Amino acid sequence: MIVKEIIFGSIEYNKSIDLRDEILRKPLGLAFTSEFLQQDKDQFHIAAFEGDKIVGILILKPLDKNTLKMRQVAVNVNLQGKGIGRKMVEFSEKFAVEKGFSYFELNARKEAIPFYEKLNYLIVGDEFFEVGISHKKMVKKISN
Ligand SMILES: CC(C)(COP(=O)(O)OP(=O)(O)OC[C@H]1O[C@@H](n2cnc3c(N)ncnc32)[C@H](O)[C@@H]1OP(=O)(O)O)[C@@H](O)C(=O)NCCC(=O)NCCS
Repeated sequence: MIVKEIIFGSIEYNKSIDLRDEILRKPLGLAFTSEFLQQDKDQFHIAAFEGDKIVGILILKPLDKNTLKMRQVAVNVNLQGKGIGRKMVEFSEKFAVEKGFSYFELNARKEAIPFYEKLNYLIVGDEFFEVGISHKKMVKKISN
């Protein structure tokens, strides 16, 4: 398995939308709108591959010169719990530090909170609802 940056609008990016749809939207009975996908532009897309198949994806959205928001984190349902999510996040943290960012933040779904806690993300603030499900904001300082 390898993790690498993919480019918005590429064939790989289009495949990553299918994975995001499968893992993050269909189970909620939702679908992406073109307005929602338009925000993917000018963001960093990090994907995990087994051969030429995308098995994991996450997006990094610059909020300011120090902070990236990690969003749309998804791993193929048959391959969850095998370390792919951890490898993508670790790759993303190094990638972000190299680009001069110091902080990550994210809105974690309730079921995913233990995953982010394993990777040393901290909960800040109260529960809130997005796409109809419970979330908490989490943060991590990624550089010294
Ligand atoms: C959440 C998700 C991205 C994690 O990716 P993953 O590849 O399954 O996770 P990993 O195998 O890399 O797990 C890393 C560590 O977190 C732990 N972990 C992962 N998911 C967990 C969970 N739901 N509960 C408790 N621990 C969990 C693993 O046991 C592992 O611990 P270890 O390193 O001590 O063995 C993935 O399961 C997924 O796509 N879930 C559905 C979509 C989703 O919820 N996305 C997040 C939206 S905020």
